[in-house]
Amino acid sequence: MSTTVTSVIDGKPVGEGRTVASTNPAHLDDVAAEVVFADAATFAAGAASAKRAQPAWADIPAPVRGRAIAHIGRAVENNADALARLVTREIGKPYAEALGEVREIVDTCDFFLGEGRRLYGQTVPSEMPDKQLFTFRNPVGAVAVITAGNFPVAVPSWYIVPALLTGNTVVWKPAEYSAAVSNAFHELFVRGGGLPDGVFNLVHADGEQTYAGLEAALEAGTVDKVGFTGSSAVGRRIGELTGRHLQTACLELGGKNPLVVTPSADLDLAVEGALFSGFGTAGQRCTSLGTVIVHESRHDDFVARFTKAVGQAVVGDPSGEVLMGPLLDEKFAGRYEEYLTWIQPHHTVHGRTGRIGGDNPREGFVGDPASGLYYHPVVVDGVRSGDAIFDEETFGPIVGIATYGTLGEAIELANAPGYGLSSSIYTTDPKEAYAFRRGIGAGMVSVNNSTSGAEAHLPFGGNGKSGNGSRQSGMWVLDQFTRWQAMNWDYSGKLQKAQMDVIELTPDRDIRLVEQ
Ligand code: UN1
Repeated sequence: MSTTVTSVIDGKPVGEGRTVASTNPAHLDDVAAEVVFADAATFAAGAASAKRAQPAWADIPAPVRGRAIAHIGRAVENNADALARLVTREIGKPYAEALGEVREIVDTCDFFLGEGRRLYGQTVPSEMPDKQLFTFRNPVGAVAVITAGNFPVAVPSWYIVPALLTGNTVVWKPAEYSAAVSNAFHELFVRGGGLPDGVFNLVHADGEQTYAGLEAALEAGTVDKVGFTGSSAVGRRIGELTGRHLQTACLELGGKNPLVVTPSADLDLAVEGALFSGFGTAGQRCTSLGTVIVHESRHDDFVARFTKAVGQAVVGDPSGEVLMGPLLDEKFAGRYEEYLTWIQPHHTVHGRTGRIGGDNPREGFVGDPASGLYYHPVVVDGVRSGDAIFDEETFGPIVGIATYGTLGEAIELANAPGYGLSSSIYTTDPKEAYAFRRGIGAGMVSVNNSTSGAEAHLPFGGNGKSGNGSRQSGMWVLDQFTRWQAMNWDYSGKLQKAQMDVIELTPDRDIRLVEQ
């Protein structure tokens, strides 16, 4: 059964526009929802609604907003199975991972519900008597959140929960292919949290209409902050656009995440980490493993164990216990097929490549491969800097392998693609772990753990092509959604001029201790 989902602005559905089907990538004949797409003007209307609602929302005391976040967390928890099942149905994420993703919303709410009672500012001593200095966190205003569909609920919550808690209002444009999930998420937030109309608006639109709507909203002054998760190419456009309005967007972009296997590594542990980060979510996390950089002395052993593990991994229907389900959507399947053409003669490919089917079967496949967008997990050995497969993000189930001699070379290779989101090193030598941490350009470093699976209360974000240095999650995201305001209060009854009317003590500069 499929439903029709629409944008929701100011608490009301917006029923007009062309309709596009959002299909289940595991069962292409199953339509998860018919989505009514809005145009640029509707996106701008969503932003205007958020802007109108913002002052009253900011007037609600922060501890009360924290209670709303607490209610949202409980509503999500009470609906965890249903929401996770919808995630699996609409984007094909294996159910266990989908449940983990839903858990990430609850974790985020749990963290921020208490922040409503903190949201600390500081009292700071003044250089003058009878004067006091203070700092306050003020909300930024109306926030436009634009997110991808590979994490259709966890990543939006990283923006929306702290934005609301700190007194901002939101217009959210989710991915086109996760629209049904987005409406469920929106309903849980608005009804479950008791949010007033206009505080959280939802707009379904394609990329170009969203960009045009955002441009208009920025021009009209109804968007004060943009949060964007998606490709580096689109992130660049959003960064340019917001820069013209003297704004800094919170950008969470692509990755080409390296995993270094050192001579001292526990190989079985490294294989387990590479398998999960390479092929969990079918390699479609921004934190997914890009290239294993393995010491030349361990190369053959690692490749033998890794390719065996990949060969034995269970691929198939995401409602079952599988490592990997289908790709997210036709668009991603098409792009992934293009990445496969980047394989060159000097590469060694392990196993089959391409779409799984009757003439290209996968042993142990669970379900009917013809029903969905299922692809073979691919390991490409012998990749090197200068190969597209090494240099570019390859969103999908493909992992490259390169070798190194010295740790310095490994770090150079790990940084070479110019992304900088996540990274990992497998070692039992603490000196190597620290040297890697210092040398790697990534915002996130794992030691003896996979590149994916960040916890929801550490700073999440990247450098280089992975972002502009903004960080989400935990207390660090507060700086994205608040602005520091400095206040000074002089109660001396006279004008005391800073730097000029400051009392001077008289030091004896000639003092020298005399030895007895
Ligand atoms: C993403 O792919 O955009 O660290 C986010 C992880 C997840 C989040 C990934 N917790 O892999």
